[in-house]
Amino acid sequence: MDKIVVENLSLKYSDGTESLFNINMNIKANLITALIGPAGGGKSTFLRMMNRLNDLADVKEVTGKVLIDGENVLDPDIDVIALRRKVGIVFSRPLPLPLTIYQNLTYGLELAGEKRRSVLDEAVERSLKLAELWDEVSDRLKDPASALSGGQKQRLCLARSLVLEPEIILLDEPTSALDPVATAKIENSLVELKKQYTILIAPHNTQQAGRIADDVAFFLQGKLIEFGPTEIIYTRPTDQRTQDYITGKFG
Ligand SMILES: Nc1ncnc2c1ncn2[C@@H]1O[C@H](COP(=O)(O)OP(=O)(O)O)[C@@H](O)[C@H]1O
Ligand SMILES: [Mg+2]
Repeated sequence: MDKIVVENLSLKYSDGTESLFNINMNIKANLITALIGPAGGGKSTFLRMMNRLNDLADVKEVTGKVLIDGENVLDPDIDVIALRRKVGIVFSRPLPLPLTIYQNLTYGLELAGEKRRSVLDEAVERSLKLAELWDEVSDRLKDPASALSGGQKQRLCLARSLVLEPEIILLDEPTSALDPVATAKIENSLVELKKQYTILIAPHNTQQAGRIADDVAFFLQGKLIEFGPTEIIYTRPTDQRTQDYITGKFG
């Protein structure tokens, strides 16, 4: 099933940079879709379009559609708060709030009006288990999040996006600040999570996409060059530029 359908999406920033050119892409539910390509290709811009985070950026012109469950989220009338609950995001730098581990997770729910302790407790446990962090922190939820290691902080950020029960999770180079062990934990968690969620990731490198992605989209200078199942893109891409990128001829 297509969870996200992107139609003729183009974006120009105010400084004139054309960062997305006529992107068409169908993103399936319960899969991991990876956006790969060299820096500046438009991956982060594309991710931010999915939950309208570009509303905060200096964007001059957007055309086309981003249909999520059939609804165009670029429509100015949509409920952006509800959209951002449905489409969570994890960034590359693990930046928990300067609160306890527990409060980092309950903050968003409390803002949304949830006060029942049992509901909050349950949400905290559920999201920490999904992010594969529960076993390491269950006996110290009252500790400041700043006491966690980098890898634990990033799993906390992942848990924080899960606590609001999204349907789609966006991850923008979530392991770029992590060591290989911490990276593997996040990757394992994502492979589990795709059973319940739609996952869209700009991976740290092409190897990471190869390990976890079902579908791969190759972005180059704002254009979607090629999109398809990972094994096809990685073994017999149709476009020479994809081939050159995958084989490390440019980076
Ligand atoms: N907020 C912004 N304002 C102006 N230009 C931007 C902004 N964000 C990104 N860009 C430009 O858009 C292009 C795509 O950037 P980005 O989406 O960050 O690519 P990637 O994530 O693939 O590295 C780049 O040329 C970048 O400089
Ligand atoms: Mg980026």
